[in-house]
Amino acid sequence: MPLSRRKALVSTSTLVGAAFLLPAKAQSPAARSPGTATPPLADLVSVSDFEPLAEERLSEVSRALVKGGAADELTVRWNREAFDQIRLRPRVLVDVSRIDTGLTLLGQRLPFPILLAPTAYHAMVHPGGEAETARGAGKAGALWVVSSATNTRLDAIARAATGPLWFQLYVQSDRRFVTDVVHEAEAAGCRALVVTVDAPVVGPRYRQMRAKFKLSPGLSLPYMDDVNKGRDSLLRGGNTRMTWAEIEWLQSVTRLPVLLKGILNPDDAERAVASRVAGIIVSNHGGRMLDTAPATIAALPAVTERVAGRIPVLVDGGVRRGTDILKALAFGANAVLIGRPYLHGLAAAGADGVARVVALLRDELEQAMALTGRPTLADIDRSVIWG
Ligand SMILES: Cc1cc2nc3c(=O)[nH]c(=O)nc-3n(C[C@H](O)[C@H](O)[C@H](O)COP(=O)(O)O)c2cc1C
Repeated sequence: MPLSRRKALVSTSTLVGAAFLLPAKAQSPAARSPGTATPPLADLVSVSDFEPLAEERLSEVSRALVKGGAADELTVRWNREAFDQIRLRPRVLVDVSRIDTGLTLLGQRLPFPILLAPTAYHAMVHPGGEAETARGAGKAGALWVVSSATNTRLDAIARAATGPLWFQLYVQSDRRFVTDVVHEAEAAGCRALVVTVDAPVVGPRYRQMRAKFKLSPGLSLPYMDDVNKGRDSLLRGGNTRMTWAEIEWLQSVTRLPVLLKGILNPDDAERAVASRVAGIIVSNHGGRMLDTAPATIAALPAVTERVAGRIPVLVDGGVRRGTDILKALAFGANAVLIGRPYLHGLAAAGADGVARVVALLRDELEQAMALTGRPTLADIDRSVIWG
């Protein structure tokens, strides 16, 4: 679609969310108090405008949940810094009157290479919980990977959703339970399973511990059997016995493509290809697991080189700008996922906030493609990186 027309669409479709914006203060995590004027969504011109607004609206506990990383949060910081340090090489006098961000991923046609990463406990971020996110993802036209740590059951999410869903699986120790969850995800229409493999234990989340993190009363975790049965805690979590054998077993009980999320090491990427998984996600869990693990954009090139196009490689961690997405694609990623940015949108303005965040990133990606003379995703390669 021509850039100018897309711009017009973004600004009209996002104005509607303005009335929702409400203040927070010292409330229970998911609560809002009605009424006070806040900026119209159209005035939030950049993804970075959402974070302060979200922080005002969240309780201390929910703020720590969204912002927090492991230990000193160095990896959280590096995820951002590493993107900022990469320079882009412009290319001029290319016809960029039509920018096409479309792609095919695992046989699914997507309008743009931005997915919503799996994130836990949306009822701690917005009173509408995951149903609200589902509506936002639908408005945005974005594929959403629903977390195993959802507070809402998949059938209710599927009813609210108008766009494609994948399901992120934390493989629990009871295989029967996991099989039932997988079948529930299939029945709800999820089109892929994303198995998170970087969480045999949970990283030391000091920010959350200082905020005395716990779920608000009344919230449940229907797919976290180990937590519910007291085998794991929200802060210590993890399936410490999980190995490659569980991946093979899982592939035997589902007809869905299985992706692995949380790969940084090229040797693990090689092993993933050998295990015939459908794709991998280069991720350090938003800096929430192993602190001082490298930035994902720094780890990405060695992984895409090793995988050499045999399976799709996605990446997340610190994506906040269209130029970040361009950089990730230049280093060989097929698509990116965003975590905190859409949670900020959700906290600030519910479904419309989620949609606005995605639309802003999408616009910025198109602008970055135009300014580097790359009208389609296929035109993006390493030569777009300066030096
Ligand atoms: C509040 C929060 C909860 C998360 N919950 C999960 C989860 O349940 N499962 C999972 O695989 N990753 C989880 N993640 C990690 C995200 O999927 C993703 O890897 C990360 O947020 C990307 O980094 P970004 O937030 O800088 O975009 C969570 C991240 C955040 C911020």
